[in-house]
Amino acid sequence: MIVDLRSDTVTKPSKEMLNAMLLAEVGDDVLGDDPTVIKLEKKAAKLFAQEAALFCPSGTMTNQIAIKVHTKAPGEVICSDLAHIYLYEGGGIAFNSGLSTRLINSNRGRFTLEQLKDSINVDDIHFPPSQLVALENTCNKGGGCYWDIREIKRISEYCKEQNLPLHLDGARIYNALVASGISTQEMGKYFDSISLCLSKGLGAPVGSLLIGSKKFIKQAKRIRKILGGGMRQAGYLAAAGIYALDHNIQRLEIDHQNAIKIAKTLETKPYVESVTPVETNIVIFKLKDEFPLDQYIADIKAKGIWVAAMGNQQIRMVSHLGIGEAEMDYLMSEIP
Ligand SMILES: Cc1ncc(COP(=O)(O)O)c(C=O)c1O
Repeated sequence: MIVDLRSDTVTKPSKEMLNAMLLAEVGDDVLGDDPTVIKLEKKAAKLFAQEAALFCPSGTMTNQIAIKVHTKAPGEVICSDLAHIYLYEGGGIAFNSGLSTRLINSNRGRFTLEQLKDSINVDDIHFPPSQLVALENTCNKGGGCYWDIREIKRISEYCKEQNLPLHLDGARIYNALVASGISTQEMGKYFDSISLCLSKGLGAPVGSLLIGSKKFIKQAKRIRKILGGGMRQAGYLAAAGIYALDHNIQRLEIDHQNAIKIAKTLETKPYVESVTPVETNIVIFKLKDEFPLDQYIADIKAKGIWVAAMGNQQIRMVSHLGIGEAEMDYLMSEIP
């Protein structure tokens, strides 16, 4: 058996999802007449109490489009030191938008309003103008932890006062919502733009949504086209997204319980130095120095357990809808 815990991006569409894709009514989305894409975009906008949405190939594209639309070089994006937009998007902030990045020293990807205030540049020709604040919820590199909604509210109110747009990298926003009990409507109202991924824990094969005002999405559509993200009969993919939103949200709770079970087991192992507290579906643990990381990963891979290296003796295991009871039983019995 293979238990693939490298990421929740490895999920494959279920038979039911494939069936929904097969039956999708499609058009040409670049020409604006794919009914299934339109349905998905309307659904997402309504869920998050915003006016419009845009279906894109990836979360990297939705984030990078948002950054491009909200800003104009020279300027600076403010985000946490663990932010995906900074660490894992190939330098896109500089490449696509010509901006510098101000990193806030964070608590697993989260920071406070006071820290944000300290990071905003005064109006002085020496400094790049602060143009955008981006939060990541849940934070991937932070081990899937989620933000306290009260801090989001404080940051949002302040950003509004300062005329600073606030973007949410919500690649795993549904993990945060299910874990915290906050509604999509409540979360949606604090941001000027939201990116969410359908192809991670929600189990769709491809796709992310960018959500915001009509004016914002109109500009976003132009950038998506420039980046080559305009897709034609994209309704087949959008159908998977609609299926995911209708069927795969509440079950994230199972992934969270599985992640806690994995973490508790790891805590008992003699080779484990520490396990980052689990809040959603991501488990990050650190090996003791005497256990070489590559060797450990190769050893468990030989048993069919696939994990991801995170650097600095750290390993990531992510639970998702491909990890059912049989996979959990196998993992519990085979993990050394
Ligand atoms: C927090 C976060 N944002 C954005 C992305 C980018 O998504 P994609 O892989 O679809 O480009 C990821 C991917 O893992 C992510 O974890």
